[in-house]
Amino acid sequence: MKMNKVRALVTGGASGMGTCFTEQFKAAGAQVVFCDVNVEGVSATQDALGVPGFVADVSDEEQVAALFEQAAFAMGGPVNVLVNNAGIIRDGLLIKKDRETGALKPFPKSKWDQVLAVNLTGPFLCMRELAHRAIESDVPAVCVNISSISKAGARGQSNYAAAKAGLAADTVVWAQELGRYGIRVGAVAPGFVRTPMVESVPAHVLEKLVKPVPLGRVGEPEEIWEAVRFIVSCEYFSGRVVEVDGGLRI
Ligand SMILES: NC(=O)c1ccc[n+]([C@@H]2O[C@H](COP(=O)([O-])OP(=O)(O)OC[C@H]3O[C@@H](n4cnc5c(N)ncnc54)[C@H](O)[C@@H]3O)[C@@H](O)[C@H]2O)c1
Repeated sequence: MKMNKVRALVTGGASGMGTCFTEQFKAAGAQVVFCDVNVEGVSATQDALGVPGFVADVSDEEQVAALFEQAAFAMGGPVNVLVNNAGIIRDGLLIKKDRETGALKPFPKSKWDQVLAVNLTGPFLCMRELAHRAIESDVPAVCVNISSISKAGARGQSNYAAAKAGLAADTVVWAQELGRYGIRVGAVAPGFVRTPMVESVPAHVLEKLVKPVPLGRVGEPEEIWEAVRFIVSCEYFSGRVVEVDGGLRI
């Protein structure tokens, strides 16, 4: 899809990669709006980028429907590019054994539920809304799902790995189901990228994580944007995951 035809919605646009993607869509000549649950972040990002932002929780069915309505109104036509970027981490071992007391602490189900809701149910709800509206108006559309290298399985990330693997699998499913309507679905699986999510990891832990990266550093959000732009632009790309991870395998 040509950038001057794009009406993009970026979820989780008030921070990190979402802010970068929103900014880059605008710079490329596309129309773009973003959403986030962070009320202050939405207002600050909206002011900083000069792009309409909406407060919405991607895991809430009604809020997602209202969001697509508001986005279409703001851009003068239905959303035709969706970037399913909003995501959270709530890491921890399935069972943690206290070194001193030997007490066993099971991973809380609430943290499992939170991560699955935002990182998997959210993209499902947004994809469904995009597809419904695009098929109804008979217009082509593209969805870019932001998965992660953790889709391969990562210690301490039962919830996050399951959600990101699920999202990679659904990228294939949705591409198979929706191709006949002119809807393409791709995914990007980033490695470690310099955003608040990664900056929240203690420095000594991050150093350990980055050591096995063949390119020897974390990625920049702009480098992940290159893959998002490719998926939006390449009309023969669908149902696949682009891995942008400095060569890291976990
Ligand atoms: N940073 C990395 O190294 C990395 C690596 C691989 C994948 N990812 C994925 O990339 C995406 C962006 O990550 P980031 O590092 O920029 O994170 P970030 O924490 O900087 O930004 C995520 C944004 O999503 C928003 N958000 C959270 N829950 C939401 C909800 N229910 N509805 C709407 N918005 C919500 C947050 O408020 C935040 O603004 C995530 O899906 C993340 O899992 C990140």
